Amino acid sequence: MPATAGTVGELLREAAAELEAAGVVCAHGTANWRDEAAAIVYHALGLDHAEVAAYARVLTADERQRCAALLARRIAERQPAPYLLGEAWFAGLPFHVDSRVLVPRSPVAELIAARFEPWVPPRARARILEIGTGSGCIAVACALAWPDARIVATDISADALAVARRNVVRHGVEDRVQLIRTDLYAGLAGSFDLIVTNPPYVPEGDLEDMPPEFAWEPRAALVGGADGLVLVRRIVGEARAHLAAGGWLAVEVGGGAAALEQAFPRVPFIWPEFEQGGDGIALVAAGDLPGDN
Ligand SMILES: C[S@@+](CC[C@H](N)C(=O)[O-])C[C@H]1O[C@@H](n2cnc3c(N)ncnc32)[C@H](O)[C@@H]1O
Repeated sequence: MPATAGTVGELLREAAAELEAAGVVCAHGTANWRDEAAAIVYHALGLDHAEVAAYARVLTADERQRCAALLARRIAERQPAPYLLGEAWFAGLPFHVDSRVLVPRSPVAELIAARFEPWVPPRARARILEIGTGSGCIAVACALAWPDARIVATDISADALAVARRNVVRHGVEDRVQLIRTDLYAGLAGSFDLIVTNPPYVPEGDLEDMPPEFAWEPRAALVGGADGLVLVRRIVGEARAHLAAGGWLAVEVGGGAAALEQAFPRVPFIWPEFEQGGDGIALVAAGDLPGDN
């Protein structure tokens, strides 16, 4: 980055051009180089994203240096920006992140904002299970969207749960979000009104062809076995036994929609469309799942 970037606006233009020229991939919370530059620069300067007037602000040499250092690392290391900044945004909320957890980006945020309506009926004191909580972003967002709900959030990774705990405390929901280390449903008691999960679903062989940014994320957060659906099949196959009557399962499978339909041909999955982009989240009512409850 040239040392002549005078204002925030000029710096943003130059930074976006540099990120583009370097071919960094924007897939961890931003969708283009301009937004990626803004995420880095605004965070480095401690600016609010609503502060459009900040574009005209003249940078100090120190501020310019701080932004330049972050941008240089983003390009050289190909580390996703949220890891460099120690923060990611999900459902309009800030979360601490580091390379122990997936960078939050699930379109499920949009369903949480609507409390899964019109599919999931409103219910007082709902019991929600999140499988594979990672940073805790989905569990925390659910706790804030349903102020009287109780949430059980699980992960197989003790490292991830340490990050989730930090975020649960940060958002003051530790009285309603219980974090449990377990393998999917193992040892879980009781039944739930909603099971929500963004499990690992990348086919094993696909990972090495993915951009270098993804290599910074925990392999166990991305890879779902040979065809990507090893954990998803278990989650869907066993969900009914853990759902209350009238309960629902929401499971993200990304590009695995057709494979999921093929694996469970008699299950009438619903595939919501998202205003803010993304797809690949299946909804299904307990009564339509295989097995008994
Ligand atoms: C795709 S990440 C999702 C993280 C977070 N929920 C989000 O949406 O950003 C999947 C998470 O599932 C966890 N996981 C992988 N295998 C698991 C298993 N067998 N049981 C429970 N959690 C598992 C991983 O450690 C990881 O944190």
